[in-house]
Amino acid sequence: MNPQRNPLDFSRTAGCAGILSALLLAAWITPAQAQEPAGKDLRLFYSQHCAGCHGADGAAQGAAGKKLKGQDLTDPAWRKGTSDEKMVKVIQKGIFFGLAMPSFKKDLTSTETQRLVTEVIRKSEKGKVIGKD
Ligand code: HEC
Repeated sequence: MNPQRNPLDFSRTAGCAGILSALLLAAWITPAQAQEPAGKDLRLFYSQHCAGCHGADGAAQGAAGKKLKGQDLTDPAWRKGTSDEKMVKVIQKGIFFGLAMPSFKKDLTSTETQRLVTEVIRKSEKGKVIGKD
């Protein structure tokens, strides 16, 4: 056989390109996958998407919260009178066609919404900033 390298043999360069694209692919996939097992940080999600209206602690006592009339999510009496299902529904659907409160259907799965209610809202306390511990 011809010991000389066949100029048409691209296997070496193809190999390089293959490794390179594998690395690029890995770099592209890894950040998303690394987050998956633990799931979304819902306390962080709250501080980024809900605190503006409901307050850093959930009590809606800040200027913005008061102006927007966000519900005081830390109010024990209100919390007793409402159900997880109702809160989940509101977070998924929003209020008044998304004008008073936006729908978060696109940002949260139903499991995430459920967890946001039981692990974040149900545990919020007046004066305790959510996502800061
Ligand atoms: C643009 C402002 C705004 C944003 C952002 C917002 N809300 Fe609301 N939210 C409101 C308003 C206004 C109400 C209605 C208050 C009322 O009826 O007294 C409300 C009500 C609620 C209620 C009570 C629903 C009920 O049963 O009466 C829950 C729970 C709630 N919001 C959770 C959230 C969560 C969780 C987020 C973030 C993922 C969020 N909200 C983001 C404005 C907002």
